[in-house]
Amino acid sequence: MTRVRKAVFPVAGLGTRFLPATKAIPKEMLPVVDRPVIDYVVEEAREAGIEHFIFVTGRNKGVIEDHFDVQVELYDTLAQRGKDHVLGDLQRMQPAPGQASFTRQQKPLGLGHAVWCARELVGNEPFALLLPDMIMQSDPGCMAQMIGLYEKTGGNVVAVQECDPSETHKYGIVGRGRATGDGFEITEMVEKPAKGKAPSNFYLNGRYILQPEIFSILANQARGAGNEIQLTDGMLKLKDKQDFFAYPYSGRAFDCGSPEGFVEANLAFALQREDMRERIGGNLAGLLSEAAGLSRKRSRA
Ligand code: G1P
Repeated sequence: MTRVRKAVFPVAGLGTRFLPATKAIPKEMLPVVDRPVIDYVVEEAREAGIEHFIFVTGRNKGVIEDHFDVQVELYDTLAQRGKDHVLGDLQRMQPAPGQASFTRQQKPLGLGHAVWCARELVGNEPFALLLPDMIMQSDPGCMAQMIGLYEKTGGNVVAVQECDPSETHKYGIVGRGRATGDGFEITEMVEKPAKGKAPSNFYLNGRYILQPEIFSILANQARGAGNEIQLTDGMLKLKDKQDFFAYPYSGRAFDCGSPEGFVEANLAFALQREDMRERIGGNLAGLLSEAAGLSRKRSRA
């Protein structure tokens, strides 16, 4: 079995669900506590053993490339001021020279098209795909858990979670088949099914391990839901030729492409931090009782 060494991060999305915050700043650079969203996703990949980070970018996303570059003056200043722990944190996130690649999607034709744009950089080997809207909270991370299943099964592995049945039209949904070890076989896959048409409530949460044969399928693919070239449609075709497993991820997932998910992520990650838990937890209790009062007033009005 070929080891998964490379990860693809499609970061070309416009972030329209998050305007006006994302008018000039890429959504992947919005901070959750004190790190940009993209750091959490890259860290998850690194923890899973990924050695090469491939970013599929677009116009106005140059700052993501700068973020993963060495900033000589900043590093020198931090060193002179004795801020070694801050410098250490920055250097730990820094891909080594040649470990990060950037390519542009050029046209917003959909997730399937964005993934296809990485074909030359991935080459003929399995790869991890992490959608940067979603950040995960678990130890070990979602991708590390998936690699554990992949090492037993090979083939293709997608992470799934259960959503409220009223929300299935927002996601890619898989049908549940026979259980296999830590996961289950997939019977079908539908991108954003119409209400009442979903095969289950297991949604694709934005973490995938895919074989390189997906690229030739995506190259010729017709547009699907939302008039976009959909990755889910391509995976459905690949499933006819190769094994596909679902890994039910039990950690927390936050959709940082939406303001609600982003706020929840900020709270959840801040409350994990020793240096913030007490203060934020205390304030939160007060804010919650105030909010409960507002809701009561509203329901009486
Ligand atoms: C994409 C995928 C979808 C998946 C979702 C997870 O949709 O196409 O299958 O469930 O990410 O966030 P998007 O959120 O880009 O519409």
